[in-house]
Amino acid sequence: MIIKTADFICSNTQISKLPPAEKPEYAFIGRSNVGKSSLINMLTAKKGLAKTSQTPGKTQLINHFLVNDNWYLVDLPGYGYARISKSKKEDWDKFIRNYLTKRESLQCVMVLIDSRLEPQKIDVEFCNKLGEWGLPFVLVFTKADKQSNTKTDQNIAKFKKALLATFEEVPDCFITSSENGIGRDEVLNFIDGVNAT
Ligand code: GTP
Ligand code: MG
Repeated sequence: MIIKTADFICSNTQISKLPPAEKPEYAFIGRSNVGKSSLINMLTAKKGLAKTSQTPGKTQLINHFLVNDNWYLVDLPGYGYARISKSKKEDWDKFIRNYLTKRESLQCVMVLIDSRLEPQKIDVEFCNKLGEWGLPFVLVFTKADKQSNTKTDQNIAKFKKALLATFEEVPDCFITSSENGIGRDEVLNFIDGVNAT
Protein backbone atom coordinates (compact mmCIF):
# COMPACT_ATOMS: atom_id res chain seq x y z
CA MET A 1 0.00 0.00 0.00
CA ILE A 2 1.23 3.47 -0.83
CA ILE A 3 0.66 6.09 1.86
CA LYS A 4 -0.30 9.33 0.13
CA THR A 5 -1.60 11.25 3.13
CA ALA A 6 -1.66 10.81 6.90
CA ASP A 7 -3.24 13.48 9.06
CA PHE A 8 -3.95 13.95 12.73
CA ILE A 9 -7.72 14.29 13.20
CA CYS A 10 -8.49 14.43 16.94
CA SER A 11 -7.65 13.36 20.50
CA ASN A 12 -10.36 12.12 22.85
CA THR A 13 -11.27 10.20 25.93
CA GLN A 14 -15.00 10.08 25.25
CA ILE A 15 -16.16 7.69 22.58
CA SER A 16 -19.16 9.93 21.88
CA LYS A 17 -16.74 12.52 20.51
CA LEU A 18 -14.79 10.25 18.18
CA PRO A 19 -15.04 10.73 14.41
CA PRO A 20 -18.11 9.02 12.88
CA ALA A 21 -17.54 5.26 12.77
CA GLU A 22 -17.71 5.22 8.98
CA LYS A 23 -14.19 4.26 8.00
CA PRO A 24 -12.23 1.14 9.00
CA GLU A 25 -9.79 1.64 11.85
CA TYR A 26 -6.87 -0.14 13.49
CA ALA A 27 -5.96 0.46 17.12
CA PHE A 28 -2.37 0.27 18.38
CA ILE A 29 -2.06 -0.85 21.96
CA GLY A 30 0.55 -2.37 24.23
CA ARG A 31 2.63 -1.62 27.27
CA SER A 32 3.80 1.94 27.83
CA ASN A 33 6.97 2.66 25.86
CA VAL A 34 6.64 -0.45 23.65
CA GLY A 35 6.75 1.80 20.57
CA LYS A 36 3.12 2.36 19.48
CA SER A 37 3.50 5.99 18.47
CA SER A 38 6.87 5.33 16.80
CA LEU A 39 5.33 2.53 14.76
CA ILE A 40 2.52 4.81 13.57
CA ASN A 41 5.13 7.31 12.42
CA MET A 42 7.14 4.58 10.71
CA LEU A 43 4.09 3.15 8.92
CA THR A 44 2.98 6.55 7.67
CA ALA A 45 6.59 7.67 7.00
CA LYS A 46 5.71 10.86 8.86
CA LYS A 47 8.09 11.59 11.71
CA GLY A 48 6.40 13.53 14.49
CA LEU A 49 2.84 12.63 13.41
CA ALA A 50 2.29 10.77 16.69
CA LYS A 51 4.14 12.13 19.71
CA THR A 52 6.83 9.79 21.04
CA SER A 53 9.03 9.89 24.13
CA GLN A 54 11.72 7.95 25.95
CA THR A 55 9.58 8.37 29.07
CA PRO A 56 6.64 5.97 29.38
CA GLY A 57 3.14 7.42 29.61
CA LYS A 58 3.48 9.88 26.70
CA THR A 59 0.25 9.05 24.87
CA GLN A 60 -2.69 9.73 27.17
CA LEU A 61 -5.65 10.03 24.81
CA ILE A 62 -7.31 8.19 21.92
CA ASN A 63 -5.66 9.74 18.86
CA HIS A 64 -7.13 9.32 15.39
CA PHE A 65 -4.94 9.63 12.28
CA LEU A 66 -6.63 9.47 8.89
CA VAL A 67 -4.64 7.68 6.20
CA ASN A 68 -5.27 8.19 2.46
CA ASP A 69 -8.62 9.77 3.44
CA ASN A 70 -9.81 6.23 3.78
CA TRP A 71 -8.96 4.54 7.09
CA TYR A 72 -7.74 5.39 10.59
CA LEU A 73 -4.72 4.46 12.62
CA VAL A 74 -5.53 4.91 16.31
CA ASP A 75 -2.81 5.58 18.87
CA LEU A 76 -3.77 4.63 22.43
CA PRO A 77 -2.18 5.12 25.85
CA GLY A 78 -0.08 2.20 27.01
CA TYR A 79 -1.05 -0.18 29.78
CA GLY A 80 1.11 -1.22 32.71
CA TYR A 81 2.62 2.17 33.39
CA ALA A 82 3.39 2.22 37.10
CA ARG A 83 4.03 5.90 37.62
CA ILE A 84 0.52 7.28 37.26
CA SER A 85 -2.07 7.73 39.98
CA LYS A 86 -4.54 4.93 40.66
CA SER A 87 -7.50 7.08 39.65
CA LYS A 88 -5.88 8.09 36.36
CA LYS A 89 -5.04 4.48 35.63
CA GLU A 90 -8.66 3.51 36.28
CA ASP A 91 -9.80 6.32 33.93
CA TRP A 92 -7.48 5.08 31.18
CA ASP A 93 -8.55 1.46 31.63
CA LYS A 94 -12.18 2.52 31.46
CA PHE A 95 -12.00 4.63 28.33
CA ILE A 96 -9.73 2.17 26.55
CA ARG A 97 -12.10 -0.68 27.39
CA ASN A 98 -15.06 1.41 26.26
CA TYR A 99 -13.33 2.29 23.04
CA LEU A 100 -12.25 -1.27 22.26
CA THR A 101 -15.56 -2.91 23.06
CA LYS A 102 -17.90 -0.30 21.56
CA ARG A 103 -16.18 1.04 18.48
CA GLU A 104 -18.08 -0.48 15.58
CA SER A 105 -15.57 0.48 12.91
CA LEU A 106 -12.63 -1.14 14.73
CA GLN A 107 -11.33 -3.82 12.34
CA CYS A 108 -8.42 -5.21 14.27
CA VAL A 109 -6.45 -4.53 17.45
CA MET A 110 -2.72 -4.35 16.81
CA VAL A 111 -1.16 -5.59 20.06
CA LEU A 112 2.43 -4.42 20.32
CA ILE A 113 4.89 -6.61 22.19
CA ASP A 114 8.52 -5.76 22.96
CA SER A 115 10.48 -8.37 20.99
CA ARG A 116 13.40 -8.16 23.45
CA LEU A 117 11.42 -9.64 26.30
CA GLU A 118 10.25 -13.08 27.31
CA PRO A 119 6.44 -13.25 27.50
CA GLN A 120 5.13 -10.73 30.01
CA LYS A 121 2.09 -11.65 32.09
CA ILE A 122 0.40 -8.32 31.43
CA ASP A 123 0.61 -8.81 27.64
CA VAL A 124 -0.68 -12.36 27.74
CA GLU A 125 -3.54 -11.27 30.01
CA PHE A 126 -4.39 -8.40 27.69
CA CYS A 127 -4.59 -10.82 24.73
CA ASN A 128 -6.81 -13.11 26.78
CA LYS A 129 -9.11 -10.19 27.50
CA LEU A 130 -9.36 -9.38 23.78
CA GLY A 131 -10.27 -13.04 23.25
CA GLU A 132 -13.01 -12.78 25.89
CA TRP A 133 -14.36 -9.67 24.18
CA GLY A 134 -14.29 -11.46 20.84
CA LEU A 135 -12.07 -8.83 19.24
CA PRO A 136 -9.80 -9.77 16.33
CA PHE A 137 -6.16 -8.98 17.01
CA VAL A 138 -2.66 -9.50 15.64
CA LEU A 139 0.70 -9.37 17.42
CA VAL A 140 3.24 -6.78 16.36
CA PHE A 141 6.68 -7.39 17.85
CA THR A 142 8.58 -4.11 18.16
CA LYS A 143 12.21 -2.97 18.47
CA ALA A 144 13.56 -5.91 16.48
CA ASP A 145 16.67 -3.84 15.68
CA LYS A 146 17.73 -4.10 19.30
CA GLN A 147 18.77 -7.76 19.31
CA SER A 148 19.60 -10.72 17.08
CA ASN A 149 16.96 -12.32 14.88
CA THR A 150 17.49 -15.54 16.80
CA LYS A 151 16.59 -13.87 20.08
CA THR A 152 13.51 -12.23 18.51
CA ASP A 153 12.36 -15.57 17.08
CA GLN A 154 12.85 -17.28 20.44
CA ASN A 155 10.77 -14.67 22.26
CA ILE A 156 8.02 -14.85 19.63
CA ALA A 157 7.91 -18.64 19.88
CA LYS A 158 7.57 -18.38 23.67
CA PHE A 159 4.81 -15.80 23.37
CA LYS A 160 2.87 -17.96 20.94
CA LYS A 161 3.22 -20.88 23.31
CA ALA A 162 1.88 -18.78 26.18
CA LEU A 163 -1.17 -17.84 24.11
CA LEU A 164 -1.86 -21.45 23.21
CA ALA A 165 -2.79 -22.03 26.86
CA THR A 166 -6.05 -20.18 26.09
CA PHE A 167 -6.33 -19.84 22.30
CA GLU A 168 -6.75 -22.69 19.82
CA GLU A 169 -4.59 -20.91 17.28
CA VAL A 170 -2.22 -18.00 17.44
CA PRO A 171 -2.99 -14.77 15.59
CA ASP A 172 -0.85 -13.33 12.80
CA CYS A 173 2.52 -12.05 14.01
CA PHE A 174 4.64 -9.25 12.58
CA ILE A 175 8.24 -8.37 13.37
CA THR A 176 8.93 -4.63 13.20
CA SER A 177 11.48 -1.94 13.87
CA SER A 178 10.61 1.72 13.75
CA GLU A 179 14.33 2.42 13.54
CA ASN A 180 14.97 0.68 10.24
CA GLY A 181 11.49 0.10 8.79
CA ILE A 182 11.47 -3.69 9.11
CA GLY A 183 7.92 -5.02 8.87
CA ARG A 184 6.43 -1.88 7.33
CA ASP A 185 5.27 -3.54 4.08
CA GLU A 186 3.93 -6.56 5.93
CA VAL A 187 1.80 -4.53 8.37
CA LEU A 188 0.53 -2.18 5.64
CA ASN A 189 -0.31 -5.13 3.37
CA PHE A 190 -2.21 -6.76 6.20
CA ILE A 191 -4.26 -3.58 6.73
CA ASP A 192 -4.80 -3.25 2.98
CA GLY A 193 -6.12 -6.80 2.87
CA VAL A 194 -8.58 -6.22 5.73
CA ASN A 195 -9.73 -2.93 4.18
CA ALA A 196 -10.45 -4.77 0.94
CA THR A 197 -12.78 -7.32 2.58
P1 GTP B 1 3.53 5.52 25.44
O1 GTP B 1 2.78 6.48 24.56
O2 GTP B 1 4.25 6.21 26.54
O3 GTP B 1 2.68 4.38 25.90
O4 GTP B 1 4.73 4.86 24.57
P2 GTP B 1 4.70 4.28 23.08
O5 GTP B 1 4.36 2.84 23.11
O6 GTP B 1 3.92 5.14 22.16
O7 GTP B 1 6.28 4.36 22.71
P3 GTP B 1 7.04 5.44 21.82
O8 GTP B 1 6.68 5.25 20.38
O9 GTP B 1 6.85 6.79 22.40
O10 GTP B 1 8.54 4.93 21.97
C1 GTP B 1 9.15 4.78 23.23
C2 GTP B 1 10.67 4.79 23.07
O11 GTP B 1 11.10 3.65 22.36
C3 GTP B 1 11.18 5.98 22.28
O12 GTP B 1 12.41 6.41 22.87
C4 GTP B 1 11.43 5.43 20.89
O13 GTP B 1 12.44 6.09 20.16
C5 GTP B 1 11.85 4.01 21.21
N1 GTP B 1 11.49 3.09 20.12
C6 GTP B 1 10.26 2.86 19.63
N2 GTP B 1 10.28 1.94 18.65
C7 GTP B 1 11.58 1.58 18.49
C8 GTP B 1 12.26 0.65 17.62
O14 GTP B 1 11.67 -0.03 16.78
N3 GTP B 1 13.61 0.53 17.78
C9 GTP B 1 14.30 1.25 18.72
N4 GTP B 1 15.62 1.06 18.81
N5 GTP B 1 13.69 2.13 19.55
C10 GTP B 1 12.35 2.29 19.44
MG1 MG C 1 2.63 6.68 22.58
